[in-house]
Amino acid sequence: MKALILSGGKGTRLRPLTHTMAKQLVPVAGKPILGYVLEHIAAAGIKSIGVIISPETGEEVKGYIGTGRKWGVKITYIPQTAPLGLAHAVKTAGDYLGRESFVMYLGDNLLSYGVADAVKRFRKEQTDALIFLKEVDNPKQFGVAELSADGGIKRLIEKPSKPPSNLALVGVYIFTEKIHEAIARTRPSDRGELEITDAIQELIRMGRPVKSEILDGWWLDTGKKDDLLQANSIVLDEYIKRSIKGKVDKKSQIAGRVDIAEGTVIKNSRIRGPVRIGKKSIIENSFIGPFSSIGDRVRIYNSVIEHSVILNDSVLEGIERLEDSLIGRGTRVLHSNHRHKALRLMVGDDSTIEI
Ligand code: DAU
Repeated sequence: MKALILSGGKGTRLRPLTHTMAKQLVPVAGKPILGYVLEHIAAAGIKSIGVIISPETGEEVKGYIGTGRKWGVKITYIPQTAPLGLAHAVKTAGDYLGRESFVMYLGDNLLSYGVADAVKRFRKEQTDALIFLKEVDNPKQFGVAELSADGGIKRLIEKPSKPPSNLALVGVYIFTEKIHEAIARTRPSDRGELEITDAIQELIRMGRPVKSEILDGWWLDTGKKDDLLQANSIVLDEYIKRSIKGKVDKKSQIAGRVDIAEGTVIKNSRIRGPVRIGKKSIIENSFIGPFSSIGDRVRIYNSVIEHSVILNDSVLEGIERLEDSLIGRGTRVLHSNHRHKALRLMVGDDSTIEI
């Protein structure tokens, strides 16, 4: 069995971060989402992984994954010239996948338990597709499944305006080679994409077995700011252990599960976990509250920060209270001492600022 990670696409919903970085590389609790995806696939015993990359972010994705040796897997990069849909990505990977069954994992999805059990179940059952469903509050934003009384799949629809249920399709699928035949029969949707949801619906129409499972662990599609903050909170809550490799002075207090990487200095500050702080950062005269992830080489002075993600090389100074925020790389957020009260901003394209 092989795996196919989809790490192309445009990442429009996470702009402006994704103007300069691949959305699959945005860190959650200090680790790029793709890192979790690769760990999950490797833990399922899969050794050969194809990675779909786009012309815009492909090099950055390659820079992070490299040969795959870190995860004990062999990587084949598959360029997709334009984001023409998830099924188009599978089509593009046709030569690589050949006639083997494969796990398809969307590079911006995070699952609590990974895919090892799912792969075991797929191997036991006679099915051409195993898909995963999860109840959501906003089904219009996903592929949605309608189940029949016996629990079988009646119909799958991509981003319906009138969802027949609140069961969303999770971005992890397991297929036999039959999916290629179904994709060949599928036409682009109204949004101009070749949808994997439509291809699975086509498999059903072809009379092929498609099975589903309702996921009991958490699942997060990290495509938007609030989803990303939620992913960060859940992962911090679940995985962060107390580990203090940096330097903490006597005037500082570190409470709970706080992970501080090497080279970081904490001066006269309070940190209340779960919190993760990367390498070579400085936190001075500040409070860092629960569910915050601070990157590498970040400097925070005289500030209060809670439930936020601050990426590498940013500076925050004199910020009375920052909550529920996502701050991109190399950003400066400063309190101004001008007498004349005014906002002075230099903000990138597609940003959101709440004042
Ligand atoms: O997250 C689950 C949802 O993922 C499912 O419920 C939907 O049925 C499914 O269509 C998909 O919807 P999204 O609109 O969230 O997909 P998105 O465009 O965000 O793409 C998902 C991942 O695949 C992302 O990492 C980018 C990558 N991608 C996307 C496209 C369209 C590619 O590599 N190539 C592509 O052509």
